Amino acid sequence: MIDKYTVDKLGYIDEDIDSSVNLVEEIKLLKKQKDAVILAHYYQNPEVQDIADFVGDSLALSVKAKNLKSKIVVFAGVKFMAETTKILAPSTKVILPDLNAGCSLADSCDYESLKNYKDIHPNHKVVTYINTTAAVKTISDICCTSSNAERIINSIPKNEPIIFAPDRNLGNYLKNKLQKENMLIWDGFCHVHQRFSLEKLLEIKKSNPGSLIISHPECPKPIILVSDYIGSTSQMIEYTKQSKSKSFIVATEYGVIHEMKKLSPEKNFIPAPPEDSTCGCNDCSYMKMITLKKLYLSLLHEYPIIELDKETIDKALIPIERMLAVK
Ligand code: 13P
Ligand code: SF4
Repeated sequence: MIDKYTVDKLGYIDEDIDSSVNLVEEIKLLKKQKDAVILAHYYQNPEVQDIADFVGDSLALSVKAKNLKSKIVVFAGVKFMAETTKILAPSTKVILPDLNAGCSLADSCDYESLKNYKDIHPNHKVVTYINTTAAVKTISDICCTSSNAERIINSIPKNEPIIFAPDRNLGNYLKNKLQKENMLIWDGFCHVHQRFSLEKLLEIKKSNPGSLIISHPECPKPIILVSDYIGSTSQMIEYTKQSKSKSFIVATEYGVIHEMKKLSPEKNFIPAPPEDSTCGCNDCSYMKMITLKKLYLSLLHEYPIIELDKETIDKALIPIERMLAVK
C-alpha cells in the first residue's frame, strides 16, 4: 500500500526497487495483467518510447485517446496531454507517473487571465493550442495542435477575429503564413524552443553545409526564417524519412531524434544548440520527469491518477471534439 497523501504532495511514488528487478519485463507483465496501455510523446526518453504501445505527436495521441479500449492508460508525457486523454476517455483510469510534469506553455495561460481577455474581446473566437490546462479548454471555442493548426485557423471564416493562445511563436507563424490580420496573440512560449540560438545554429550549418535545418513552429521567428522545413514533431519525422538529404539540424526537443534515427539509421541528426552553452541539450525538463522507474511504480500502484470533475470534462470536450472534426 502506498501513502496517497505523501504521493499527492510529492507528485510521484518514491519507493526503492530491488536492483534485480527488470523494469522493462515487469512493466510488460503489469500491462497484460491490468489491461493497461502506455501512450508516449516523441519527446520522451528512448527507453520510455520503446516500451510504449503507441508513440505519437499531440494530435495522434488525442485521436488514440478517443478510441481507447483498455481499462488503464499510463501517459508518458506531460499533464495537459494526460488531461486531454481523461477528457476524451472519462471512464478510463489515466495515470500520470509524475504530476509535476507540466508545460511552460500551459503555465503561461491561466483560466482567469484568459477569461478576462475574452471578456474584453467578446467577438473573438478563442483558439487554444492543446498545450493548455483543462480549465482553459472549458472557455475555448476550438483547440489545435501544431499538426492541424493551419487547418483549424482556415476553418474559421477569414473575417472573424481570433484570440490565439498561448504560444506567441506558433501564433505569429500562423498569422504571417495565413495572412490572418485580425488575430490577437497571447504572449506565451515554450522554454525549450525559445532558447535556440540563431548564431549557434548558423555556425553548425556552416560546419555541416549539406545539412537541412528543420524546426518546430514553437521556435522563434529568426529560427523559422532560416529553416528548410517547419512542422510538428510527426511532420518533421516524416520529412526526414522522405527527404533525399542525409543530414538534418533538428530544432525541437531532443527526444524526437530517437524516432528519426529508427526510421533512417543511415542519416545524420544534429540537435540544434540552445543559447545556454552550459546546457548543451534541448531536453524538456517536464517531459523527462517520466522515467522507467516511475512508469513501473505508477502502473504497479495505479497512482497518481488524473481526476477532473464532470463539468470540466463536458465543457473541455467541446473544443477538442470540434478540433477532431476538422478534416
Ligand atoms: P506536437 O506534438 O504537436 O509536435 O507538439 C510538440 C510539443 O511541444 C508538445 O509538447
Ligand atoms: Fe511544454 Fe515545451 Fe515541454 Fe512541449 S516541450 S511540454 S511545449 S514545455
